[in-house]
Amino acid sequence: MTAYLNGQYLPLAEARISPLDRGFLFGDGGYEVIPVYSRHPFRIDEHLRRFQTTLDGIRLQNPHGIEAWRAIIRRIIAEADFDDQTIYIQVTRGADTKRDQPFPKGVEPTVFLFAAPLVSPTPAQRASGVAAITTEDIRWGRCDLKSVALLANVLTRQLAVDAGCSETIMLRDGYLTEGSSTNIFCVKDGVILAPAKDHRILPGITYDVVLELAARHGAAHEVRAVSETELRSADELWMTSSTKEVLAITTLDGKPVGHGALAGKPGPVTRQMHAWYVAFRDEVMRYAGA
Ligand code: PDD
Repeated sequence: MTAYLNGQYLPLAEARISPLDRGFLFGDGGYEVIPVYSRHPFRIDEHLRRFQTTLDGIRLQNPHGIEAWRAIIRRIIAEADFDDQTIYIQVTRGADTKRDQPFPKGVEPTVFLFAAPLVSPTPAQRASGVAAITTEDIRWGRCDLKSVALLANVLTRQLAVDAGCSETIMLRDGYLTEGSSTNIFCVKDGVILAPAKDHRILPGITYDVVLELAARHGAAHEVRAVSETELRSADELWMTSSTKEVLAITTLDGKPVGHGALAGKPGPVTRQMHAWYVAFRDEVMRYAGA
């Protein structure tokens, strides 16, 4: 598998960084994950724009312009052995000769990319939805930045794994923030509810696609604070991310999501949104391949 490290294309297993890299020592860097379908990156401009926002937010100069990024990504995609991929991009503040917190002077950032096979939800997960648990959001105050410092997300996600669930949904001060690696949407009385994009959540690229699709198809939606009570009494819940796309959450803290005959099953709004998403994605990919 080909990786890119600081100007070189090389097998991933041969890529080496210094133990003094600030990404390793401090989690001092940013990253992106871009889905690729049939060797076409989806929403690449939006991902690169969010990457710029992350780098600006952590005061790390972007080592490449858009065209240079595109060229590197194109080559990584072309050299992969598989058609559907996720491209991982990471830039850290580089490796100094000492361990010291302030920004080092004259140190080049470390730039790392690699392609992995796209791991999509299984047909069984698509059909039945997945289980999630909730926990308090213990992360820092800039969850809008896609920082590589993901210890809180790692600990939070492990809670789900320990409970035999797929995702952990976080609450801060009694309000929904997001999942450990996903954005979360609720449906109540036919209205899609999404927490606003502020410093408490990652501005998901898939989140934006979903809200665009809701607007395009005239689906009722509100972007506003979603309380814990609303989360727990939702008719439907789903998660979004570049790899999960739109995936129903049908169990929350061991209880079925929803009411009546639909309790514990993917609901109609979720299924409709997933269908809209797939149709839109395929339309964009057809155009990209034309
Ligand atoms: N995760 N929220 C968090 C905390 C995330 O880490 C992610 C993405 C999302 C969804 O964002 P998007 O729709 O742009 O993928 C929301 C990526 C996939 C990851 O860390 O692997």
